[in-house]
Amino acid sequence: MAGKVAVAITGASGAIYAVRTLAELLAREVHVELVVSDYGRRLLRDELGEDATIEKLMPYLSSKYGDKVNAGFLTIHSNRDLGATIASGSHNCSAMAIVPCSMKTLAGIAHGLSRNLVERAADVMLKERRRLVIVPRETPMSLPALRNMVLCAEAGAMIVPAMPAFYQQPASLDDLADFMAGKILSALGFEHDLYPAWTGKA
Ligand SMILES: Cc1cc2nc3c(=O)[nH]c(=O)nc-3n(C[C@H](O)[C@H](O)[C@H](O)COP(=O)(O)O)c2cc1C
Repeated sequence: MAGKVAVAITGASGAIYAVRTLAELLAREVHVELVVSDYGRRLLRDELGEDATIEKLMPYLSSKYGDKVNAGFLTIHSNRDLGATIASGSHNCSAMAIVPCSMKTLAGIAHGLSRNLVERAADVMLKERRRLVIVPRETPMSLPALRNMVLCAEAGAMIVPAMPAFYQQPASLDDLADFMAGKILSALGFEHDLYPAWTGKA
């Protein structure tokens, strides 16, 4: 197994970015420790359909992205379980991505509230000086949201907004998801070929 990485899915639009990121981590033999907020569960279902509910996530990932996802290992934690492994700095989880991240969860992390496992695990990453990748999605953004991103960045998090680019000529939603998942993997410290490196020419 290639180490442990925490992934959180919260109630912002962009569930496709989450499943693409999960598939790539699992294909790299990562032990993914997943926590999904109540609205994260709703957005998974609303945006990706009944087959993508949390209970059916592994079959969904393997049917969409192939058997390679079975190289990894998925543990699903309850967002209410503040006694889960990833709630402690002594657990050897090296990095965390929150994808997508709602403005509510962003605020909770920015102010160190630890009201649930997503916020607590993020706080653990910050206090232990480990990689925390926050993928916020909202538009337009309020001044509190903008300030909360600055607070998180000052505390050491990497802010990777859900802003896919178009210079790679995306032809599908999956192309857009690949681009964002690639940015998230890079921020987590993984190599990937989800989009070609920029050569200077479009
Ligand atoms: C369909 C739908 C789409 C939403 N999209 C967003 C979004 O893109 N960004 C955001 O910050 N909140 C969004 N929300 C609101 C959050 O889900 C809401 O603030 C929720 O309390 C977030 O809780 P969580 O961070 O614990 O998941 C959306 C809600 C719904 C029902």
